[in-house]
Amino acid sequence: MLDRYALSLRGRSRTVGIIVPDDHKEQTVSDTNRQRIFSGVQPTGNIHLGNYLGAFRNWVSLQDSFDTIYCIVDLHAMTADYDPVALEKSRIETAKVLLALGVDPDRSLLYTQSQVMEHAELAWILGTMAPMGVLNRMTQFKDKTAMGVASNLGLYSYPVLMAADILLYRANLVPVGEDQRQHIEVTRDLAERFNNRFGDLFPIPDGYIPETSARVMSFTDPASKMSKSDAKEKSRILILDDQDVIRKRIRSAVTDSDPEVRYDVDTKPGIANLLEIMSACTGRSVDDLVDEYSGAGYGAFKDAVADAVLEELAPFKPRYKALTNGDVRAVLAEGGGRARELAGPYEAEVRKAVGIKGYR
Ligand code: AMP
Ligand code: TRP
Repeated sequence: MLDRYALSLRGRSRTVGIIVPDDHKEQTVSDTNRQRIFSGVQPTGNIHLGNYLGAFRNWVSLQDSFDTIYCIVDLHAMTADYDPVALEKSRIETAKVLLALGVDPDRSLLYTQSQVMEHAELAWILGTMAPMGVLNRMTQFKDKTAMGVASNLGLYSYPVLMAADILLYRANLVPVGEDQRQHIEVTRDLAERFNNRFGDLFPIPDGYIPETSARVMSFTDPASKMSKSDAKEKSRILILDDQDVIRKRIRSAVTDSDPEVRYDVDTKPGIANLLEIMSACTGRSVDDLVDEYSGAGYGAFKDAVADAVLEELAPFKPRYKALTNGDVRAVLAEGGGRARELAGPYEAEVRKAVGIKGYR
């Protein structure tokens, strides 16, 4: 069963640029020596073009050169109101989409966070070192509570659990979209605090964020990011949307009244967003696209963007349809087992360092 995926999933992936925090030297894929990648996604359904271009495309391409671990973070999903039956379905659904996108269980570890309770234990330990002042600055907590998500301790300490996810496996690079940059900084901060107090256990991880399309914007409001939770369906393209829906969404994307195709995030955010999306899907630079389409008119430009997106997404739906829930459960069962085997000895080192080696 796994071989079938492996054969059909290879190829087509492209690794896009790397941006590391300001204080850190630039790194490229070639000068890394089989480093470890860790990333996570919430099982909240609605996987969209922003998730794909911002993060999952890199998840797939990084499998070629790195030791890759990908986690469906169901413990994080419990921080907002949820239905237990829907959560179980969403975990399978999210894993199925990731497999269809090209996450290959022969090369990557794919599992769910709740299968490995060491995540929660390490989060507790790191939580004892996380200053309230640092957590009070987290924009995601402020944004979510402003949107009406009930505040609770889990939502507040969400970045600590994320740091535990990454540090548990001693990851070096974390492929995510721009919105996770602040959380990566907290992870680095907590790793440094831990290492200073208890000895150098954790590598200090870097974010791996694409140069273009790290923040794909909404089609109905190009000032806010494309999001799973936006009530307006027209704001996003889902990975599994039908071709005519994808074309319609792009055609109706909010732009501006000046007909020139130009890259200007401040005055033409809708067009800038479409240029970035097209650039990410075609591998052509934004400047090159502006040269070609500046005088073409918005209609023709949007059609070209739609063609590029359709071509990029075309392989995924057939692969998704070929997978059964049983296939997905088998991948997660195996991934969870392997993740536990890895996590146990790592967490034992942490326990020893902090003085709770204990008798288990
Ligand atoms: P989430 O949907 O919040 O679980 O995010 C999964 C991954 O997609 C994370 O790495 C996010 O940074 C990334 N992501 C989410 N929304 C966007 C977006 N609009 N543009 C680019 N990346 C995104
Ligand atoms: N916070 C991430 C998001 O909302 C999901 C996540 C949880 C994650 N743990 C992680 C991402 C560890 C990268 C690494 O998208």
